Amino acid sequence: MATACDQAFRPYAVDTLHGDCRGMTLPPAIRDLAPGRPGLVGDPALEASHLSKRYGDVQAVEDVSFQVARREIFALLGPNGAGKSTTVKMLCTLARPTDGTATVAGFDVRRQPKAVRRRIGLVFQEQTLDDQLTAEENLRFHAVLYRVPKIEVEARIRRVLDLVELADRRRDVVSTFSGGMARRLEIARSMLHTPAVLFLDEPTVGLDPQTRALMWEDVTRLREEAGVTILLTTHYMDEAEYADRIAIIDRGSIVALDTPSNLKAMVSADTVELTTADDPIATARLTAAGFRAKLGTGNVIVFTPNGDSQIARLIDVAGVAVTNVHVHRPSLDDVFLHFTGRQIRADHAEHVLPMRMRARARRR
Ligand SMILES: Nc1ncnc2c1ncn2[C@@H]1O[C@H](COP(=O)(O)OP(=O)(O)OP(=O)(O)O)[C@@H](O)[C@H]1O
Ligand SMILES: [Mg+2]
Repeated sequence: MATACDQAFRPYAVDTLHGDCRGMTLPPAIRDLAPGRPGLVGDPALEASHLSKRYGDVQAVEDVSFQVARREIFALLGPNGAGKSTTVKMLCTLARPTDGTATVAGFDVRRQPKAVRRRIGLVFQEQTLDDQLTAEENLRFHAVLYRVPKIEVEARIRRVLDLVELADRRRDVVSTFSGGMARRLEIARSMLHTPAVLFLDEPTVGLDPQTRALMWEDVTRLREEAGVTILLTTHYMDEAEYADRIAIIDRGSIVALDTPSNLKAMVSADTVELTTADDPIATARLTAAGFRAKLGTGNVIVFTPNGDSQIARLIDVAGVAVTNVHVHRPSLDDVFLHFTGRQIRADHAEHVLPMRMRARARRR
C-alpha cells in the first residue's frame, strides 16, 4: 500500500500524460519509478552517449559519455568553463547537442524533449526566484506552470518545504532570505512536480561552508525520502566527495569517472613529510634506497603507497634524527592534479557568484 510520502510524491508525470507521450507505453525506467518502487535495478535514470556541443569556435563539451543509476547522486566536477553547465543544458533539453545522444528517464533528449522536461527538476546556476513574491507564491506559480493537479498542490508545497526545512518561512518574501535559504527554496521548487531526475547546477556556489553542509543534508534527504536521482555540478573538491560517483570534467571532456574512494585510490601515492636534522642527506639516502623523495622547504617529501606503514622504514633509511612526520592521503584536489596536470582554482567561488547575488553583495 502506498504511504503518505508516496502519495505526496506520486510521479504525476507518470499517470498524467499529455502531449507527445499520451498513450505511449511507458519504458521500464518510468514504470519502475512508480510509487513504492524507487531504486529498482534496471535501466539507468540518465544516459549520455558521446555528447558534444560546439559554440562557434568553442568546443564546450566533447564526446562525453556516462550513465547515472536511479537514486544515484552523481557529480560533475570541474573548473570554470569545463563544460558542466553545457552538459546539464543538453540533458535538460535547453541546448541541442552538436553530436551524440542522451536519454533521461528513458526518453531521448532530442526526439522527446517534452517528455524529458516533465520528468526533470532543474536548479539553474543563476538564481531564478521572484524575490518580490513569498516562498509560497513562488511555489504556487511553479505548480501552475507544471500543471500540478490543484488538489495536490497544498500537500506538495508542505512536503517540499519540509524537505528543505523552510516551512516556517513559507509566507516570507524571498528578498528577505539569505543566499542559502533562497537556494534551498529553489531546490524545493524543483521538486514540486515530483521529478524523476533532479539537476542542480552549482547548488552551493557562493555559500558559506555551514550552509553548503545544510544543502548537502537536503540533497541526501531528497534521495532518501523522495527517491529522486540527482546530477549536480560543483567545483568544490571537498563536497564532491558526498556524491556516489564523480565525473571529473576538464576542457569539455571527462578525464576520470568513479567513486570518490576509487578515484583517490588511482592516485596511489601518499605524501609523507619528514622534518629531519639534515634534509639534503636524508633526501639523498632515501632516493638511493629507491624511494621517490624530494627536498621540500624545511622538510623531505616522500611519495609512497601506504605511507603509514612505511614510516619506520623511512626514518631508518634517512639515517638522521627525524623530529616530525606527517602523512597526507590523496584528496580530490590531488586526483584533479593527477588527471589534468593542473590545480583546480581556489578562487573560483567568487568568480562564478550568480549575477543577482553579486549585485546584492555590491549593494551592501
Ligand atoms: N551560449 C554560449 N555561447 C558561446 N559559448 C558558450 C555558451 N555557453 C557556454 N559557452 C562556452 O562553453 C564553455 C563551457 O562553458 P560552461 O558554462 O558549460 O562551463 P562550466 O563548467 O559550467 O563553467 P562554470 O564553472 O564557470 O559555470 C566555456 O568556454 C563557455 O565560454
Ligand atoms: Mg556552469
